[in-house]
Amino acid sequence: MTTFHERVFSGVQPTGNLHLGNYLGAITKFVALQNTHECLYCVVDLHAITVAQDPAVLKSNIREVTAAFIAAGIDPKAHIVFNQSQVAEHAELAWIFNCVARMGWLNRMTQFKEKAGKDRENASVGLYAYPTLMAADILIYRATHVPVGEDQKQHLELARDIAQKFNNDFAQSIANCGFGEAFFPQPEPLIQGPATRVMSLRDGSKKMSKSDPSDYSRLNLSDDADAIAQKIRKAKTDPEALPSELEGLASRPEADNLVGIYAALADKTKEDVLREFGGAQFSGFKAALVDLAVVKLGPIGAEMKRIQTDHAYIDAVLKDGADRARIIAAENMRAVKDILGFVR
Ligand code: AMP
Ligand code: TRP
Repeated sequence: MTTFHERVFSGVQPTGNLHLGNYLGAITKFVALQNTHECLYCVVDLHAITVAQDPAVLKSNIREVTAAFIAAGIDPKAHIVFNQSQVAEHAELAWIFNCVARMGWLNRMTQFKEKAGKDRENASVGLYAYPTLMAADILIYRATHVPVGEDQKQHLELARDIAQKFNNDFAQSIANCGFGEAFFPQPEPLIQGPATRVMSLRDGSKKMSKSDPSDYSRLNLSDDADAIAQKIRKAKTDPEALPSELEGLASRPEADNLVGIYAALADKTKEDVLREFGGAQFSGFKAALVDLAVVKLGPIGAEMKRIQTDHAYIDAVLKDGADRARIIAAENMRAVKDILGFVR
Protein backbone atom coordinates (compact mmCIF):
# COMPACT_ATOMS: atom_id res chain seq x y z
CA MET A 1 0.00 0.00 0.00
CA THR A 2 1.31 3.38 -0.99
CA THR A 3 1.09 5.86 1.90
CA PHE A 4 0.29 9.47 1.11
CA HIS A 5 1.27 12.67 2.84
CA GLU A 6 -1.86 13.87 4.70
CA ARG A 7 -3.32 16.97 3.10
CA VAL A 8 -6.73 18.65 3.39
CA PHE A 9 -8.58 20.23 0.46
CA SER A 10 -12.03 21.76 0.31
CA GLY A 11 -13.96 24.27 -1.77
CA VAL A 12 -16.87 26.66 -1.51
CA GLN A 13 -18.70 28.09 -4.51
CA PRO A 14 -18.82 31.87 -4.85
CA THR A 15 -22.55 31.93 -5.53
CA GLY A 16 -23.65 34.48 -2.93
CA ASN A 17 -25.71 34.23 0.28
CA LEU A 18 -23.12 32.33 2.32
CA HIS A 19 -25.17 30.85 5.13
CA LEU A 20 -25.12 28.99 8.41
CA GLY A 21 -25.05 25.62 6.61
CA ASN A 22 -21.86 26.58 4.81
CA TYR A 23 -20.40 27.83 8.06
CA LEU A 24 -21.30 24.89 10.31
CA GLY A 25 -21.10 22.15 7.68
CA ALA A 26 -17.84 23.27 6.14
CA ILE A 27 -16.02 26.44 7.21
CA THR A 28 -15.78 25.68 10.97
CA LYS A 29 -14.28 22.31 10.04
CA PHE A 30 -11.77 24.03 7.77
CA VAL A 31 -10.69 26.21 10.69
CA ALA A 32 -10.20 23.28 13.10
CA LEU A 33 -8.16 21.20 10.63
CA GLN A 34 -5.51 23.91 10.39
CA ASN A 35 -4.06 22.74 13.70
CA THR A 36 -3.36 19.22 12.52
CA HIS A 37 -3.01 19.32 8.73
CA GLU A 38 -1.59 21.14 5.76
CA CYS A 39 -4.73 22.70 4.22
CA LEU A 40 -5.82 24.18 0.89
CA TYR A 41 -9.12 26.10 0.82
CA CYS A 42 -10.42 27.07 -2.56
CA VAL A 43 -13.06 29.46 -3.83
CA VAL A 44 -14.36 27.33 -6.68
CA ASP A 45 -15.25 29.91 -9.32
CA LEU A 46 -15.05 27.40 -12.18
CA HIS A 47 -17.81 25.46 -10.45
CA ALA A 48 -19.91 28.60 -10.08
CA ILE A 49 -20.12 29.15 -13.86
CA THR A 50 -21.86 25.80 -14.39
CA VAL A 51 -24.95 28.00 -14.01
CA ALA A 52 -25.25 31.57 -15.34
CA GLN A 53 -23.31 34.24 -13.39
CA ASP A 54 -23.19 38.00 -13.73
CA PRO A 55 -19.45 38.87 -14.01
CA ALA A 56 -19.57 41.80 -11.57
CA VAL A 57 -21.55 39.81 -9.01
CA LEU A 58 -19.25 36.80 -9.41
CA LYS A 59 -16.20 38.93 -8.65
CA SER A 60 -17.83 40.31 -5.54
CA ASN A 61 -18.90 36.81 -4.42
CA ILE A 62 -15.36 35.46 -4.84
CA ARG A 63 -14.14 38.19 -2.51
CA GLU A 64 -17.00 37.53 -0.08
CA VAL A 65 -16.14 33.84 0.32
CA THR A 66 -12.45 34.70 0.75
CA ALA A 67 -13.35 37.28 3.40
CA ALA A 68 -15.56 34.72 5.16
CA PHE A 69 -12.71 32.20 5.27
CA ILE A 70 -10.40 34.75 6.85
CA ALA A 71 -13.04 36.18 9.22
CA ALA A 72 -13.86 32.65 10.44
CA GLY A 73 -10.23 32.11 11.36
CA ILE A 74 -8.48 30.56 8.36
CA ASP A 75 -4.88 31.74 8.24
CA PRO A 76 -3.92 32.33 4.60
CA LYS A 77 -0.23 32.55 5.47
CA ALA A 78 0.02 29.25 7.32
CA HIS A 79 -2.27 27.52 4.78
CA ILE A 80 -3.33 28.11 1.18
CA VAL A 81 -6.41 30.17 0.24
CA PHE A 82 -7.01 30.80 -3.46
CA ASN A 83 -9.56 30.85 -6.25
CA GLN A 84 -9.74 27.91 -8.60
CA SER A 85 -9.49 29.73 -11.93
CA GLN A 86 -5.98 30.98 -11.10
CA VAL A 87 -4.61 27.44 -11.13
CA ALA A 88 -5.17 26.07 -14.62
CA GLU A 89 -4.23 22.53 -13.60
CA HIS A 90 -7.70 22.03 -12.04
CA ALA A 91 -9.37 22.31 -15.44
CA GLU A 92 -6.58 20.38 -17.13
CA LEU A 93 -6.89 17.38 -14.81
CA ALA A 94 -10.70 17.60 -15.01
CA TRP A 95 -10.46 16.93 -18.75
CA ILE A 96 -8.39 13.84 -18.11
CA PHE A 97 -10.91 12.71 -15.50
CA ASN A 98 -13.70 13.21 -18.04
CA CYS A 99 -11.96 10.44 -19.93
CA VAL A 100 -11.65 8.24 -16.82
CA ALA A 101 -15.15 8.64 -15.33
CA ARG A 102 -18.00 6.75 -16.99
CA MET A 103 -21.31 8.21 -18.17
CA GLY A 104 -23.10 5.70 -15.93
CA TRP A 105 -21.34 7.10 -12.86
CA LEU A 106 -22.30 10.69 -13.61
CA ASN A 107 -25.87 9.70 -14.49
CA ARG A 108 -26.33 8.64 -10.88
CA MET A 109 -25.43 12.04 -9.38
CA THR A 110 -28.46 13.35 -7.49
CA GLN A 111 -27.22 16.94 -7.31
CA PHE A 112 -27.22 17.19 -11.11
CA LYS A 113 -30.77 15.86 -11.24
CA GLU A 114 -31.88 18.41 -8.64
CA LYS A 115 -30.08 21.36 -10.19
CA ALA A 116 -30.92 20.54 -13.80
CA GLY A 117 -34.58 19.98 -12.87
CA LYS A 118 -37.05 19.13 -15.58
CA ASP A 119 -35.27 20.98 -18.35
CA ARG A 120 -32.21 18.72 -18.49
CA GLU A 121 -31.66 19.34 -22.21
CA ASN A 122 -30.93 22.93 -21.39
CA ALA A 123 -28.46 22.33 -18.52
CA SER A 124 -24.82 23.17 -19.30
CA VAL A 125 -22.39 20.37 -20.07
CA GLY A 126 -20.37 21.82 -17.21
CA LEU A 127 -23.17 21.21 -14.71
CA TYR A 128 -23.19 17.55 -15.76
CA ALA A 129 -19.39 17.23 -15.60
CA TYR A 130 -19.17 19.21 -12.34
CA PRO A 131 -18.17 16.17 -10.21
CA THR A 132 -15.15 15.36 -12.40
CA LEU A 133 -13.88 18.91 -11.84
CA MET A 134 -14.45 18.46 -8.12
CA ALA A 135 -12.43 15.23 -8.21
CA ALA A 136 -9.67 17.10 -10.04
CA ASP A 137 -9.69 19.89 -7.40
CA ILE A 138 -8.93 17.35 -4.71
CA LEU A 139 -6.66 14.98 -6.59
CA ILE A 140 -4.46 17.57 -8.32
CA TYR A 141 -3.04 18.04 -4.80
CA ARG A 142 -3.30 14.34 -4.00
CA ALA A 143 -5.31 15.49 -0.97
CA THR A 144 -6.28 12.79 1.53
CA HIS A 145 -9.02 14.49 3.59
CA VAL A 146 -11.99 16.56 2.47
CA PRO A 147 -14.24 18.35 5.00
CA VAL A 148 -17.70 18.88 3.47
CA GLY A 149 -21.39 18.90 4.32
CA GLU A 150 -23.49 15.77 3.89
CA ASP A 151 -24.75 16.91 0.46
CA GLN A 152 -21.28 16.35 -1.05
CA LYS A 153 -20.92 12.74 0.03
CA GLN A 154 -21.88 11.29 -3.32
CA HIS A 155 -19.43 13.55 -5.15
CA LEU A 156 -16.66 12.39 -2.83
CA GLU A 157 -17.51 8.77 -3.60
CA LEU A 158 -17.19 9.59 -7.28
CA ALA A 159 -13.78 11.18 -6.66
CA ARG A 160 -12.69 7.96 -4.95
CA ASP A 161 -13.94 5.89 -7.89
CA ILE A 162 -12.04 8.10 -10.33
CA ALA A 163 -8.83 7.84 -8.28
CA GLN A 164 -9.18 4.08 -8.14
CA LYS A 165 -9.92 3.63 -11.84
CA PHE A 166 -6.98 5.85 -12.78
CA ASN A 167 -4.70 3.85 -10.47
CA ASN A 168 -5.96 0.56 -11.96
CA ASP A 169 -6.02 1.57 -15.61
CA PHE A 170 -2.48 2.95 -15.49
CA ALA A 171 -1.01 0.64 -12.84
CA GLN A 172 1.88 -0.48 -15.02
CA SER A 173 2.77 3.04 -16.10
CA ILE A 174 2.44 4.37 -12.54
CA ALA A 175 4.95 1.77 -11.38
CA ASN A 176 7.24 2.46 -14.36
CA CYS A 177 7.20 6.17 -13.54
CA GLY A 178 8.37 5.38 -10.01
CA PHE A 179 5.13 6.01 -8.10
CA GLY A 180 4.68 2.50 -6.72
CA GLU A 181 1.22 0.96 -6.60
CA ALA A 182 -0.97 4.05 -6.74
CA PHE A 183 -0.59 7.63 -7.88
CA PHE A 184 -3.77 9.06 -6.36
CA PRO A 185 -4.92 8.56 -2.76
CA GLN A 186 -8.53 7.65 -1.91
CA PRO A 187 -9.70 11.00 -0.52
CA GLU A 188 -11.65 10.61 2.69
CA PRO A 189 -14.74 12.72 3.34
CA LEU A 190 -14.87 14.35 6.78
CA ILE A 191 -18.59 14.71 7.54
CA GLN A 192 -19.06 14.87 11.30
CA GLY A 193 -20.91 16.56 14.11
CA PRO A 194 -24.46 17.80 14.70
CA ALA A 195 -24.73 20.12 11.67
CA THR A 196 -23.62 18.23 8.56
CA ARG A 197 -26.98 19.01 6.95
CA VAL A 198 -28.52 22.24 8.20
CA MET A 199 -32.13 22.54 7.08
CA SER A 200 -34.20 25.54 5.98
CA LEU A 201 -35.63 27.57 8.87
CA ARG A 202 -38.97 27.58 7.03
CA ASP A 203 -39.18 23.90 6.11
CA GLY A 204 -37.35 21.16 8.00
CA SER A 205 -37.48 18.85 4.99
CA LYS A 206 -35.45 21.19 2.75
CA LYS A 207 -31.72 21.87 2.95
CA MET A 208 -30.69 25.42 3.88
CA SER A 209 -29.46 26.76 0.55
CA LYS A 210 -28.05 29.85 -1.11
CA SER A 211 -30.69 29.73 -3.79
CA ASP A 212 -33.86 29.52 -1.67
CA PRO A 213 -35.96 32.54 -2.71
CA SER A 214 -36.96 33.17 0.91
CA ASP A 215 -34.26 34.96 2.88
CA TYR A 216 -36.06 33.77 6.03
CA SER A 217 -35.05 30.21 5.14
CA ARG A 218 -31.42 30.85 6.08
CA LEU A 219 -29.12 32.75 8.40
CA ASN A 220 -26.67 34.54 6.14
CA LEU A 221 -23.17 35.15 7.46
CA SER A 222 -23.74 38.79 6.55
CA ASP A 223 -26.88 39.09 8.74
CA ASP A 224 -26.69 41.52 11.65
CA ALA A 225 -28.00 40.81 15.16
CA ASP A 226 -31.52 42.06 14.35
CA ALA A 227 -31.83 39.90 11.27
CA ILE A 228 -30.50 36.85 13.13
CA ALA A 229 -33.01 37.39 15.96
CA GLN A 230 -35.96 37.91 13.61
CA LYS A 231 -35.22 34.87 11.49
CA ILE A 232 -34.81 32.57 14.49
CA ARG A 233 -38.00 33.88 16.11
CA LYS A 234 -39.91 33.27 12.88
CA ALA A 235 -38.35 29.84 12.30
CA LYS A 236 -40.92 27.09 11.85
CA THR A 237 -41.44 24.83 14.88
CA ASP A 238 -44.12 22.49 16.18
CA PRO A 239 -46.36 23.01 19.23
CA GLU A 240 -44.65 20.41 21.48
CA ALA A 241 -42.05 21.14 24.15
CA LEU A 242 -38.49 19.97 23.49
CA PRO A 243 -37.85 16.30 24.29
CA SER A 244 -35.20 15.17 26.78
CA GLU A 245 -33.92 12.33 24.61
CA LEU A 246 -32.63 12.16 21.04
CA GLU A 247 -35.39 9.71 20.01
CA GLY A 248 -37.93 12.43 20.73
CA LEU A 249 -36.59 14.41 17.74
CA ALA A 250 -37.13 11.56 15.29
CA SER A 251 -40.24 12.80 13.49
CA ARG A 252 -39.76 16.50 14.29
CA PRO A 253 -37.46 17.85 11.57
CA GLU A 254 -37.72 21.53 12.57
CA ALA A 255 -37.00 20.82 16.24
CA ASP A 256 -34.16 18.50 15.27
CA ASN A 257 -32.67 21.20 13.05
CA LEU A 258 -32.74 23.94 15.69
CA VAL A 259 -31.26 21.61 18.30
CA GLY A 260 -28.51 20.64 15.85
CA ILE A 261 -27.77 24.29 15.13
CA TYR A 262 -27.61 25.10 18.82
CA ALA A 263 -25.33 22.12 19.47
CA ALA A 264 -22.94 23.02 16.66
CA LEU A 265 -22.75 26.70 17.66
CA ALA A 266 -22.16 25.76 21.32
CA ASP A 267 -19.70 23.00 20.37
CA LYS A 268 -21.84 20.45 22.20
CA THR A 269 -23.72 17.30 21.18
CA LYS A 270 -27.48 17.25 20.58
CA GLU A 271 -27.75 15.03 23.70
CA ASP A 272 -26.09 17.79 25.77
CA VAL A 273 -28.53 20.36 24.43
CA LEU A 274 -31.57 18.18 25.18
CA ARG A 275 -30.27 17.53 28.68
CA GLU A 276 -30.27 21.29 29.18
CA PHE A 277 -33.50 22.20 27.36
CA GLY A 278 -35.62 19.02 27.56
CA GLY A 279 -39.16 20.06 28.58
CA ALA A 280 -38.63 23.70 27.58
CA GLN A 281 -41.03 25.50 25.23
CA PHE A 282 -39.70 26.79 21.91
CA SER A 283 -40.08 30.40 22.99
CA GLY A 284 -37.43 29.94 25.68
CA PHE A 285 -35.19 27.76 23.55
CA LYS A 286 -35.35 30.21 20.64
CA ALA A 287 -34.39 33.09 22.91
CA ALA A 288 -31.31 31.15 24.03
CA LEU A 289 -30.53 30.27 20.41
CA VAL A 290 -30.78 33.93 19.38
CA ASP A 291 -28.28 34.92 22.08
CA LEU A 292 -25.89 32.16 21.11
CA ALA A 293 -26.16 32.82 17.37
CA VAL A 294 -25.64 36.55 17.80
CA VAL A 295 -22.53 35.99 19.94
CA LYS A 296 -21.04 33.40 17.59
CA LEU A 297 -22.04 34.72 14.16
CA GLY A 298 -22.26 38.49 14.73
CA PRO A 299 -18.51 39.14 15.00
CA ILE A 300 -17.70 36.89 12.03
CA GLY A 301 -20.24 38.63 9.83
CA ALA A 302 -18.96 42.05 10.84
CA GLU A 303 -15.35 41.05 10.24
CA MET A 304 -16.27 39.50 6.89
CA LYS A 305 -17.91 42.73 5.75
CA ARG A 306 -14.91 44.75 6.90
CA ILE A 307 -12.34 42.55 5.11
CA GLN A 308 -14.49 42.29 2.00
CA THR A 309 -14.14 45.98 1.22
CA ASP A 310 -10.33 45.73 1.07
CA HIS A 311 -10.06 44.43 -2.47
CA ALA A 312 -6.30 44.93 -2.66
CA TYR A 313 -5.73 42.77 0.40
CA ILE A 314 -8.11 40.00 -0.68
CA ASP A 315 -6.82 39.87 -4.23
CA ALA A 316 -3.24 39.64 -2.88
CA VAL A 317 -4.22 36.75 -0.59
CA LEU A 318 -5.76 34.90 -3.55
CA LYS A 319 -2.80 35.51 -5.83
CA ASP A 320 -0.29 34.42 -3.20
CA GLY A 321 -2.35 31.31 -2.45
CA ALA A 322 -2.67 30.49 -6.14
CA ASP A 323 1.08 30.88 -6.66
CA ARG A 324 1.75 28.40 -3.87
CA ALA A 325 -1.01 25.99 -4.94
CA ARG A 326 0.27 26.00 -8.51
CA ILE A 327 3.66 24.67 -7.46
CA ILE A 328 2.05 21.51 -6.05
CA ALA A 329 -0.46 21.23 -8.88
CA ALA A 330 2.13 21.65 -11.64
CA GLU A 331 4.36 18.94 -10.21
CA ASN A 332 1.45 16.49 -10.02
CA MET A 333 0.27 17.43 -13.51
CA ARG A 334 3.71 16.65 -14.93
CA ALA A 335 3.53 13.23 -13.27
CA VAL A 336 0.05 12.61 -14.72
CA LYS A 337 1.30 13.49 -18.20
CA ASP A 338 4.20 11.06 -17.84
CA ILE A 339 1.83 8.35 -16.59
CA LEU A 340 -0.55 8.89 -19.54
CA GLY A 341 2.28 8.84 -22.08
CA PHE A 342 2.08 12.47 -23.20
CA VAL A 343 5.30 13.94 -24.62
CA ARG A 344 6.47 17.00 -22.68
P1 AMP B 1 -21.62 25.29 -1.63
O1 AMP B 1 -22.25 26.50 -1.12
O2 AMP B 1 -22.56 24.39 -2.35
O3 AMP B 1 -20.34 25.54 -2.37
O4 AMP B 1 -21.19 24.47 -0.34
C1 AMP B 1 -20.00 24.74 0.39
C2 AMP B 1 -19.88 23.77 1.55
O5 AMP B 1 -20.96 23.97 2.46
C3 AMP B 1 -19.94 22.29 1.14
O6 AMP B 1 -19.03 21.55 1.93
C4 AMP B 1 -21.36 21.91 1.44
O7 AMP B 1 -21.50 20.54 1.71
C5 AMP B 1 -21.63 22.73 2.67
N1 AMP B 1 -23.07 23.00 2.82
C6 AMP B 1 -23.88 23.66 1.96
N2 AMP B 1 -25.15 23.72 2.40
C7 AMP B 1 -25.15 23.08 3.60
C8 AMP B 1 -26.15 22.80 4.58
N3 AMP B 1 -27.42 23.21 4.41
N4 AMP B 1 -25.79 22.14 5.70
C9 AMP B 1 -24.51 21.72 5.89
N5 AMP B 1 -23.52 21.95 5.00
C10 AMP B 1 -23.82 22.61 3.87
N1 TRP C 1 -19.14 20.88 -4.90
C1 TRP C 1 -18.88 21.54 -3.65
C2 TRP C 1 -20.18 22.22 -3.18
O1 TRP C 1 -20.98 22.65 -3.92
C3 TRP C 1 -17.80 22.58 -3.77
C4 TRP C 1 -16.50 21.94 -4.18
C5 TRP C 1 -15.91 22.02 -5.39
C6 TRP C 1 -15.67 21.13 -3.37
N2 TRP C 1 -14.73 21.34 -5.40
C7 TRP C 1 -14.56 20.77 -4.18
C8 TRP C 1 -15.76 20.67 -2.07
C9 TRP C 1 -13.56 19.93 -3.71
C10 TRP C 1 -14.74 19.82 -1.61
C11 TRP C 1 -13.66 19.47 -2.42
O2 TRP C 1 -20.40 22.37 -2.05
